[in-house]
Amino acid sequence: MYKAAFFDTKPYDRKWFDALKDKYGIKIKYLENRLNSDTAVLASGYEAVVAFVSDTIDKDTVAELKRIGVKAIAMRCAGFNNVDLKACGDDIKVYRVPAYSPASVAEHAMALLLTLNRKIHRAYNRTREFNFSLKGLIGFDLKGKTVGVVGMGKIGQCFVDICLGFGMKVIAYDLYPTEYKGVEYVSIDELFRRSDVISLHCPLTSDTYHIMDKEAFSIMKDGVYVINTSRGALIDSEALLEAIKSGKVGGAGLDVYEEETDLFYEDFSDQVLQDDMLNMLSSQPNVLITSHQAFLTNEALEAIAETTLENLKCYFEGCDSKNLIK
Ligand code: NAI
Repeated sequence: MYKAAFFDTKPYDRKWFDALKDKYGIKIKYLENRLNSDTAVLASGYEAVVAFVSDTIDKDTVAELKRIGVKAIAMRCAGFNNVDLKACGDDIKVYRVPAYSPASVAEHAMALLLTLNRKIHRAYNRTREFNFSLKGLIGFDLKGKTVGVVGMGKIGQCFVDICLGFGMKVIAYDLYPTEYKGVEYVSIDELFRRSDVISLHCPLTSDTYHIMDKEAFSIMKDGVYVINTSRGALIDSEALLEAIKSGKVGGAGLDVYEEETDLFYEDFSDQVLQDDMLNMLSSQPNVLITSHQAFLTNEALEAIAETTLENLKCYFEGCDSKNLIK
């Protein structure tokens, strides 16, 4: 039987891996620790490790993994911006799960938009206190509004389908545009200028880092709604906060945050939060933050487990895999 050490696992991760591991002949050692240069040593004796978006797989971690003989990292997620691929070199193979359920993320993006726009988060709290006032709860019809989609990959396309169903006009920007029914491709500046709602679905790269910065916000429509289910660092948080305070941004739905690594997925509810930016953002009535949970559906978790185990089996058996990043 092959074996792998799984970092940063929660009970909801284990459910599907436990159900499928025998099918692939993989023995799993679950670790609650996040993978970083201090914890890498916990994988001693394992040739393969499984990691997640919240792990820090930088140069130092990779050096430590190499030292203990790790030869494969299977990411149980799509993004791999937290892995230093250069440091892995030819010694460590890196796999990922390119697609598991684009619908899970696209539907969460729409859930954030609908909740924010129709103030469901505020109405929920009010009616529980028998406050049935409608003051401050006015939204707008999505029908007929222009949504700008940045990144027309699997998730972006799924989000477009949902928006078209709502009767929205869709414009999009992609580095490699491919024709899509109902979508008009425009430049990123035109997208920022024309959109009533902007949703980010591109990966985090050196090109897209802070793609929404002060300058970008300055050319957007007053009251624009911004949704980010991709990666936190696509948005300059300071510029976003300023844009919210000035009214330029009418609502922000964030499933990701640039400084999320040490916070998201953990419970800090009995502590004073030290991150002033997150404090400021989350205390605004028109900002809705979820803890990188857009992927969290049964369908997505099952698909993640299936592909990750398949990737591990492929590594151990030396077969070709389209999920090998390098
Ligand atoms: P994908 O690879 O199918 O699509 C990405 C699209 O972005 C491609 O069409 C690509 O051409 C485009 N793109 C690349 N560089 C660009 C640039 N500089 N400017 C504009 N467009 C660019 O990826 P997929 O599956 O649609 O995922 C998108 C992102 O969603 C991932 O990179 C990841 O960061 C995020 N994600 C978030 C999850 C969550 O739970 N919040 C879960 C899964 C993915």
